[in-house]
Amino acid sequence: MKFRYRCYDCGYEGESDEIVYLCPKCGGSQKEGEFLKGILSVIYDEKELRALKDKKDLSVQDFLPYQIVTPECFPAGVTPLVKPERIRKETGCDVSFKMDSQLLSGSFKDRASLLVASQAIAHGQTRIALASTGNAGAAMSAIGAAYGLDIILFVPATAPVNKLMQSVLYNAHVVPVKGTYDDAFALSVEYTKRKGGVNRNTAYNPMTIEGKKCSSIEMFLQMGEKRPDVIYVPTGDGCILGGIYKGFYDLLSAGLIDALPRIICCQSDASDAIASAFESGQYRNVKASTIADSISVSSPANGRMAVRAIRESGGYAVRATDDEILTAQRELCAKAGLFVEPASACAYAAFRKDCKNIGKDEKAVVLLTGTGFKDMSVFQGRVSLPDAIENDVKELDRLPF
Ligand SMILES: Cc1ncc(COP(=O)(O)O)c(C=O)c1O
Repeated sequence: MKFRYRCYDCGYEGESDEIVYLCPKCGGSQKEGEFLKGILSVIYDEKELRALKDKKDLSVQDFLPYQIVTPECFPAGVTPLVKPERIRKETGCDVSFKMDSQLLSGSFKDRASLLVASQAIAHGQTRIALASTGNAGAAMSAIGAAYGLDIILFVPATAPVNKLMQSVLYNAHVVPVKGTYDDAFALSVEYTKRKGGVNRNTAYNPMTIEGKKCSSIEMFLQMGEKRPDVIYVPTGDGCILGGIYKGFYDLLSAGLIDALPRIICCQSDASDAIASAFESGQYRNVKASTIADSISVSSPANGRMAVRAIRESGGYAVRATDDEILTAQRELCAKAGLFVEPASACAYAAFRKDCKNIGKDEKAVVLLTGTGFKDMSVFQGRVSLPDAIENDVKELDRLPF
């Protein structure tokens, strides 16, 4: 679909045949210690969107700015919408889990990476650089491997080893940086300026938000062309939240839904920059230190857009402690058979705290974004394996179950 860019921070609007990153007017003009300014949104012609209302056999591709190249080469969806019977009974809520943890690289990040790969191919580029602490890098590296693209991945040297190992195996050029994620981000931007290629940094490349919206469109199609009333989104940089909002915003603009679902920003109380900005109206960076590494973010790249999205949707923020996140992770395993990483479990922890506010006739969705196998180190010292028994039938009488 034909598209243009809009900056909600300064009102800039423009079209380009080139790859565009931050707003050319206000991008990067934020004050020291504040959230990044000038993230661009991809905007479509309203008439073209409205025409989708009468289209038969709607698909996610109908809502995208680039054609996904041979989607069967690396499918990013459809992921299951699970109805967890025991949890539904216990909470009395009509809740479903959107299992984006089941995407091929093990996290939601496949969605953005696939659209950026298609963007690169459409522009005749074969090299993609990015900064990541794990999941985005693994997703981009996997898709790079599938399409034969060169992936240059800048990571803080302290990033979780098990997530980085994936990218090494996918044959990406992994560049550990003795510095923070912000340092890796800056180096990756400089890399594409000097050496060319596409930059896939989260939110910085507007196609990352656009790719993430596919989850919302998929949900709408899975629910029989209906929307949920409320959706719980695990949040760090606010790029997934921005994407979830954008999917429903496009559906609303197309006249396919009557209103936006309430978008609930789920954060760790030890990494709550967006929750605090939503409540205080001040876009200030925080010190982040949660065990849920994927949502541990001091300076959220898409913080401003995320705050607008929460507000416009009538949503709000819910915080969970690290203990609540780890308890939620184990509860999802024990009561639903779903093993997700702590960042995803944060959304479930927030749902449990907030479910009293969900109406009797409302449909809730909890977005589960990363598989638990990504980060087994969180269980060290917390969960142990049972001792082995002797190979003797007498041992069976001693078992308490
Ligand atoms: C598994 C998982 N969940 C949630 C998030 C949070 O997404 P965002 O940083 O866009 O808010 C991330 C980001 O890395 C992630 O990897």
